[in-house]
Amino acid sequence: MKKDFLTLLDLTPQELAGLLQRSREMKQSPDPGHCPLLGKSVGLLFEKASTRTRVSFEVGIHQLGGQSIFLSPRDVHLSRGEPLHDTARVLSRYLSALVVRTFSQETVQILAKEADIPVVNALTGLTHPCQALADLFTIQENTDQLKGTRIAYLGDGNNVANSLITGCSMMGLDLVLACPDGYDPDKGYLENGRRLASRSGGSVQVVRDPTAAVSGARFLYTDVWTSMGQEDEARKRRRDLAPYQLNTELLSSASEDAMVLHCLPAHRGEEITDEIMEHPRSIILDQAENRLHTQKALMEWLLS
Ligand code: CP
Repeated sequence: MKKDFLTLLDLTPQELAGLLQRSREMKQSPDPGHCPLLGKSVGLLFEKASTRTRVSFEVGIHQLGGQSIFLSPRDVHLSRGEPLHDTARVLSRYLSALVVRTFSQETVQILAKEADIPVVNALTGLTHPCQALADLFTIQENTDQLKGTRIAYLGDGNNVANSLITGCSMMGLDLVLACPDGYDPDKGYLENGRRLASRSGGSVQVVRDPTAAVSGARFLYTDVWTSMGQEDEARKRRRDLAPYQLNTELLSSASEDAMVLHCLPAHRGEEITDEIMEHPRSIILDQAENRLHTQKALMEWLLS
């Protein structure tokens, strides 16, 4: 049976731990002779802009011996009304997998249901599971063990936050999200995260006070305040989210060895200051690099 990766819940906690282990092996001992995607073509259907996700998938597919085909809305007939189910069935006749960045979670669900090939969610408005894979891997690289590690997420409870909740609660981390009223993560993801955390020994809390959230945290994580498609709300968002800016003062309230994460792109001077982006304890570029290693492990798992 084909496998899809639409949320982290498409993996068991054991499979997730295995992917993180495999990511580590691929990062530490790259093997140019290992080509599980030899002779395979992978489509990248992207309806939204991307730097990291697009390039890391294309490079990763190439490194695994495969070929990537980038499909923007203007390249395919979807934007001219060709139904999703026809698109999914036709692409299944050519491709070995389809990586999709789109607006609605329903779109990736329909594509996965109709396609005979694995479908990977490369970001929707609700989730960003590929990002969460790299986030967990980056945390694991910088701490003894994931279980019991405290992480504070600051700002907008967006798609990145929703997937982080799932990943942290599957792996037993203690996640505190500091969000202003009206910016909480998705309720369903929070409830499910709490259920998962009760099994893994982790915890998920939402608080309003950013200083309380970072207290004792080993990792501080933030993301843009205005995601793609929310540009009309940018002014209000800047005002509402201003107290949640990741700056020197907030970093000094965290654990003394706390490290900084950001999924990028960053808006310096909004959710994070220039100083913190460039801080010696910022591991943001490692986190971006780790998109490559974790997605290679994911592609290998989906297609081997
Ligand atoms: N973090 C992330 O998904 O970056 P891109 O939007 O550049 O792909």
